Amino acid sequence: MYLTKLQEKMLVGEKGDAIAKLMKLIVKIGEVNNAEKLIPIKSAQIAGVSYFTVGDSIFSFFDLLLKDKVKVSVPSWLNPAGMDRKKWKTMMISEKFAKKQFEIIQNYEKMGIKTTLSCTPYLIGHQPSYGEHLAWSESSAVAMANGFFGARTNREGAPSSLAAAITGLTAYYGLHKEENRKPDVLIDVEAQINHPADFSVLGYWFGEKFHGLIPFFSNIKHVTIDKTKMLASAMASVGSVAHFHIQNITPEAKTINQKAIEEHIVFTENEKRKIYELYDFAEGKIDLVTIGCPHTSLGDLKLIVSYLKNQTLKEDVEFWIFSSNKVIQSKAASSIIENLENQGIKIFADTCMVVSPGVRNNFGNIMTNSAKAAFYLSRDEKINVKLLQLEKIMERVTE
Ligand code: F3S
Repeated sequence: MYLTKLQEKMLVGEKGDAIAKLMKLIVKIGEVNNAEKLIPIKSAQIAGVSYFTVGDSIFSFFDLLLKDKVKVSVPSWLNPAGMDRKKWKTMMISEKFAKKQFEIIQNYEKMGIKTTLSCTPYLIGHQPSYGEHLAWSESSAVAMANGFFGARTNREGAPSSLAAAITGLTAYYGLHKEENRKPDVLIDVEAQINHPADFSVLGYWFGEKFHGLIPFFSNIKHVTIDKTKMLASAMASVGSVAHFHIQNITPEAKTINQKAIEEHIVFTENEKRKIYELYDFAEGKIDLVTIGCPHTSLGDLKLIVSYLKNQTLKEDVEFWIFSSNKVIQSKAASSIIENLENQGIKIFADTCMVVSPGVRNNFGNIMTNSAKAAFYLSRDEKINVKLLQLEKIMERVTE
């Protein structure tokens, strides 16, 4: 692989041991993927934050990096952690967990990484531009960066996104290259896809059927960024899909010759129904309703309020919403948050129902509108998940 003189120096340790180790990781990934060179990135989004998912092994990595006082060289943000930094006790998080979680966040902060703790950086002022090269690691954010914004990133792991954030470099392969961004399958969407949950069901279906491929969706109407993030998150989690096109919507779609796409397939009402049926259970009371995978936008919060109408939440309903701090603390959200909290709905920042033990350890029967959350939560044998459109969820939990 070609390296510049500066990159060679970084690799052999002239810029310190930590930089050398990070460069070795990036170069190794590049060599495995036949990259001919490294390229500069504009930003990094770093996963590996929740103590629930990373455990204690992360601390030796921090020791290595902080010994050399390394700092990020491009704008960099953190993915959700394992708890809300303020309301962790309400989430039934233990003192021991909280202490470790704060330590992890502080260590990232020492490297200059912004502690936004969100999987939707594009909703809070960090929208990538068309053609920009990035190193993002949360799977739904990766798919959104590529598909919705036309930026270019591979699915980075937690260590490789951190390595890219510090060195400002990533290997030039995969979705960074034009020729790898073309669609593999055209999906003619015949089913009615209106609600955000329907978009996530479509994403689930595609991910399960066409693991790792790039779809071109035709005939989807009423597309919004909030609905697209549901589609992207389900495809990414179920099928490791990192890029997609939507006819007349996504920036690269207009460059695609649909007739040149080899495989064409129809997504029908029947397929949609079957995915909803996968996540259903008849027995037992719902312990928790949870919304916010991916993190809710202001628009999502408004939608929840609109479904509440003049009704109230049933007394025995536990209802948790996950969002980013920036959305929750925005001026425009204040009356909405007040309204929701007055109803008894709990709104958490910095974390989510999947990466926090607060949900998994305390609830058995969970209702959500996110196919991604359903997919991950139901892997836990103690948890049953019901997947429904938000409108239907609200009908069931209000009176
Ligand atoms: Fe985001 Fe957590 Fe879902 S990180 S996409 S809310 S699993």
